[in-house]
Amino acid sequence: MLVQKIQTGKPYSVYIGNGLLPQVGSIFTEALPDLSGKSVVIISDSNVMPLYCETVKNSFQDTGCRVYTYEIPAGETSKNWTLLGEVLEYLAGLEITRSDYLIALGGGVVGDLTGFAASIYLRGISFLQIPTTLLAAVDSSVGGKTAVDLKAGKNLAGTFWQPRAVLCDTDVFGTLSEKIFLDGVAESIKYGILRDKKLYENILHGGLKNNCNNIVASCIAMKGEIVSEDEFDRGTRELLNLGHTFGHAIEACSSYEISHGHAVAIGMSIAGKVSCQLGLCSEACSEEITAALQTLGFDLTCPYPMDTLYQIMLRDKKRRGNTIDLILPFEIGDCRIYPVAIEKLEEITH
Ligand code: GLY
Repeated sequence: MLVQKIQTGKPYSVYIGNGLLPQVGSIFTEALPDLSGKSVVIISDSNVMPLYCETVKNSFQDTGCRVYTYEIPAGETSKNWTLLGEVLEYLAGLEITRSDYLIALGGGVVGDLTGFAASIYLRGISFLQIPTTLLAAVDSSVGGKTAVDLKAGKNLAGTFWQPRAVLCDTDVFGTLSEKIFLDGVAESIKYGILRDKKLYENILHGGLKNNCNNIVASCIAMKGEIVSEDEFDRGTRELLNLGHTFGHAIEACSSYEISHGHAVAIGMSIAGKVSCQLGLCSEACSEEITAALQTLGFDLTCPYPMDTLYQIMLRDKKRRGNTIDLILPFEIGDCRIYPVAIEKLEEITH
């Protein structure tokens, strides 16, 4: 088992390996003695609950915890106020106290909603993350961003609330469809393009299939490094949004029919092209990013004109007055936050 330490205000560990789910109760209890004998509420969705809940539940019961479960419908539409309120009412009905724990068992939707509930129930209780998708393992389960969606857009209400520990059993990725797995591949290679050419090359040459634990651990280590520099997303953490400014616009244009990872892949390819246009990276670098993403299986055709994406990008969270922070590659393994004037962005996209 590999262990990555995340050095946030309250540090925590991420456990990565094969066959960990049946031992999850003892791994967490050993790391967190205050968990012993407590009530835990497993929150999961209608896809994941039937697959893994029994194993996780038994494992916690074996350590002496009282285990409750709460199922939400699978899908992004579950990240809403009504469901969040229902989760909170369920916790209150069980008389869950401040010393008890919530457990997010699932992908990003389950993690974001459970983290939000944990951050506000009784003004904050502990929670654990057990990501079951590659995307959640390398991104949303680490770093403490929680959210629900608003009518105006995704993730527009939320908190920063770090989990007390994260466990990632990479065997579960074997049951993901190729499409869902690819979403995680996009977020994984993002780390390589951002800061680590070797990681980029390893992923490109099939590392996520034949050396998954080490690759996932490297991605999480890099996320941890960036998050510990800027836990509350006021600076360096923006780097994690490589490909996301264009990607979010593509997702929104498609009414979220295009998945997050796929949109981010198209966004990273566009970021390379824009960087080249601005004279920040070579044409060879931009072409290499596009070719690598295609090799990994992404169709990078952007179905929307750039001027349409531009209109949506104006509402991006990274806009500050008349500039917007783009994350642009200077080389593979060296990306930087680059403020671009809105007029310049308009020029590039028209
Ligand atoms: N998913 C980007 C971040 O955690 O900041």
